[in-house]
Amino acid sequence: MNMYDIIFKKREGDVLSREEIQYFVEGYTGGTIPDYQASALLMAVFFRGLNSRETFLLTDAMRHSGDVIDLSAVHGVKVDKHSTGGVGDKTTLIVGPIAAACGIPVAKMSGRGLGFTGGTVDKMEAIPGFRTDLPREEFIAQVNRIGLAVIGQTGKIAPADKKLYALRDVTATVDNIGLITASIMSKKLASGADAIVLDVKCGKGAFMETEEEAIQLGQSMVDIGTADGKRTIALITDMNQPLGRAVGNSIEVMEAIHTLQGEGPDDITELSLTLAGYMIYAGEKATSPEQGRELAERALASGQALIKFEQFVEAQGGDPGIAKQPDRLAEETGKTELRAKETGIINGIQARSIGMASQHAGAGREKIEDPIDPTAGILLHKKVGDKVEKGDLLAVIYGTSAEKRAKAVIEAESAYTFGESAPVKKPIVIKVLV
Ligand code: URA
Repeated sequence: MNMYDIIFKKREGDVLSREEIQYFVEGYTGGTIPDYQASALLMAVFFRGLNSRETFLLTDAMRHSGDVIDLSAVHGVKVDKHSTGGVGDKTTLIVGPIAAACGIPVAKMSGRGLGFTGGTVDKMEAIPGFRTDLPREEFIAQVNRIGLAVIGQTGKIAPADKKLYALRDVTATVDNIGLITASIMSKKLASGADAIVLDVKCGKGAFMETEEEAIQLGQSMVDIGTADGKRTIALITDMNQPLGRAVGNSIEVMEAIHTLQGEGPDDITELSLTLAGYMIYAGEKATSPEQGRELAERALASGQALIKFEQFVEAQGGDPGIAKQPDRLAEETGKTELRAKETGIINGIQARSIGMASQHAGAGREKIEDPIDPTAGILLHKKVGDKVEKGDLLAVIYGTSAEKRAKAVIEAESAYTFGESAPVKKPIVIKVLV
């Protein structure tokens, strides 16, 4: 077997065998297949696609390229939640505590932000003292004790994905359904949960721009999870404008806490309750998603979810006082205002540009090792459908560097479009695939 033949076969639109897929994944991860051949194969896959069996085989080979976590020491049905990547998506910090407060063990491994999308690990590290590198025993003991732990995903989980994702990122081969499915599901299946709830983002700030593509991706991931014997559910959700009002690290934690206090923006609250409802159902603590949702609502309204968040922060070394005083997180930083240059109704806020602006302010990184400013980000004072007068405050850019904030303002301003009427309001949850 050799790489030339495998590339040629896919280039001609033929179906790859288990052995060929394994040969590629093992060889590329182990360093015997060079980047240029792997890139050529990725591009052939991008144009020719992978059928469902090839997608399953690629996922399986990538999943077994590193550690496969055994969570059997955690009591109960473990449920994982994963988002395909969005702007302002802080739902893990909300649904984790809600689900845990309803008796679902959540043992979650999360990633860092890259490009215009944020990562849960960076958000949690914006809490002073918070540790995301718990050793395995401590991680499991914490889930058994309080029902929730979130740690950074190590390079030992699906290392094939780490290498392949970096290569896809620079060869314009990220947004392909088979490759995204294998990338996400290899990590999810290696992380040891019994059930998985996926949040597939759809719209201008997501990898999948159309509803049709997002549904295809969701179905592809549901099929892989189900074929592996795990209850897998996908929610197709809107990502045409940022989720909530905060984009950044500290300010997203603040917004997550406000939501747990019952005072979050409607879109975040709705999405979090729906996701948590499905997690509670998938974790067998409810007999239907509707009942799961009711339990989630009760956990939020009674304050139990907020108490769970406080316990979670304290258990991982963070300052639990922020659960009562979240605004302390962004007290000591600089601010620059963005004001409307025209009067009208906002008919679009490009999520991608807001994500980029937050990155320019210092919240994100271009390379994985770049340092970030936890206080950097953007708080949107107006959202799609709002009427604004010339001079009204549209957004505030946060961050310690005035120079970076100035760059961010220019990018943020380009995100807004104005018109004479508001666009038709879309529901945040577009469809559910079970
Ligand atoms: N997130 C991932 O982990 N992988 C992809 O390919 C896309 C989004």
